[in-house]
Amino acid sequence: MRYRVKNLRLAPRGRAAVEWAREHMPVLGEIRREFSRTRPLRGLRVGAALHVEAKTAVLALTLKEGGAEVSLAGCNPLSTKDEVAAALVKEGVSVYAWRGEGRRDYYQNLRRVIADRPQLVIDDGGDLISELHSEGKGGVRGGCEETTTGVHRLRAMEAEGRLKFPVIAVNDSPTKRLFDNRFGTAESTLQALMSLTNTQIGGKRVVVVGYGHVGRGIASRAKGLGAVVTVVETDPVRALEAAMDGFLVRTMEEACEYGELFITATGSLHVIRGEHLREMRDGTILCNAGHFNVEIDLEALEKLAVRRREVMEDVEEFRLKDGRRLYLLAGGRLVNLAGRRSLGHPMEIMDLSFSLQALSLSYLAAHAEELKPGVHEVPEEIDRRVAELKLKRMGIRLERQTEEQRRYLRSWEVGT
Ligand SMILES: NC(=O)c1ccc[n+]([C@@H]2O[C@H](COP(=O)([O-])OP(=O)(O)OC[C@H]3O[C@@H](n4cnc5c(N)ncnc54)[C@H](O)[C@@H]3O)[C@@H](O)[C@H]2O)c1
Repeated sequence: MRYRVKNLRLAPRGRAAVEWAREHMPVLGEIRREFSRTRPLRGLRVGAALHVEAKTAVLALTLKEGGAEVSLAGCNPLSTKDEVAAALVKEGVSVYAWRGEGRRDYYQNLRRVIADRPQLVIDDGGDLISELHSEGKGGVRGGCEETTTGVHRLRAMEAEGRLKFPVIAVNDSPTKRLFDNRFGTAESTLQALMSLTNTQIGGKRVVVVGYGHVGRGIASRAKGLGAVVTVVETDPVRALEAAMDGFLVRTMEEACEYGELFITATGSLHVIRGEHLREMRDGTILCNAGHFNVEIDLEALEKLAVRRREVMEDVEEFRLKDGRRLYLLAGGRLVNLAGRRSLGHPMEIMDLSFSLQALSLSYLAAHAEELKPGVHEVPEEIDRRVAELKLKRMGIRLERQTEEQRRYLRSWEVGT
């Protein structure tokens, strides 16, 4: 087994964090018990690029329990928890990741996963799959993608006829989008904001850029904490939805003059640019919840600054010529995972997302050859199963349709 981690002596602390996560991921626990009986991944090599932290460790160990050999790299240079990486190595997972790895090491680590010749892959953001294709390595039967940005990239590869194997867009399943993107990112983004800055959300003028699944969750939870929330959107339907949800909807040009805290969640490029930064108030806080650190134009911010310094860990001050100060959190990387004190999604949320991953991967192990190269949906029965398992754990019972109702809903004869 090969690995590259910061320090193996951190393993005991990592193991405790993984056990705590495992306790709070009962759905995946049920799948793990099933996997240890049925071994759906027996003899398969799985390569993954995910945030290397405790919840991911529970997934990696579930896949191992299912019979897979697992290699794991990070999907962000700042989100690795070194103690968890060490604990995973001790459990027999090949981990290539450490917090603060530079860009070169980040890609080198992805290539180390590829060198382990995975047959199935799990990606978060598309870097592993795109690297696999540019290296021209064969042998991969299929994969799963965790996030919106990764699915965008896969669809672009598919449109150009470049995607060489089937990939299940775990991100696009209702269970993932509704709970992970919306509630998970909302809670963890606000947690990170509060613990990195120790500032209050209540009463603050918060600007959420993008009202998709992620933005919607952040806007509503920030409002719940008492923030005065403005939404910036480019899509007319989503802008209207935000307006009817009770938010102010403004352009970036309008919002930049009065916002006190900006959170980007678009998956797009430079949604906050120099022309906006120049107009911002003294003390404005900027952060990003989208997948890559491209949503805030960091080059423009650097150019505008006459001085920069770290005022606290993961809080960087940029002083402009006229003395105004702007604060950037976690280097503009996804704030809920990249800050040292960011905890990532709640464990209960990742229980659902990673249960979808485990079951989708096991589906691919059995059916990859029947699927064409391209982006595929999570099979509906997997989505329903994960939701049903979670409801059972929560002690919630479903209302059942009567036979009469079933017939009524299938018929067309009965009207008014
Ligand atoms: N931080 C996390 O843990 C986490 C979790 C899930 C998803 N993500 C990432 O968050 C990003 C958003 O994901 P999503 O599922 O909400 O996507 P989405 O496609 O549902 O929403 C994005 C929204 O941004 C809007 N938008 C695009 N360009 C804009 C601009 N210039 N100004 C204002 N609005 C603009 C779009 O119209 C859309 O409504 C992606 O990069 C995704 O990968 C992060």
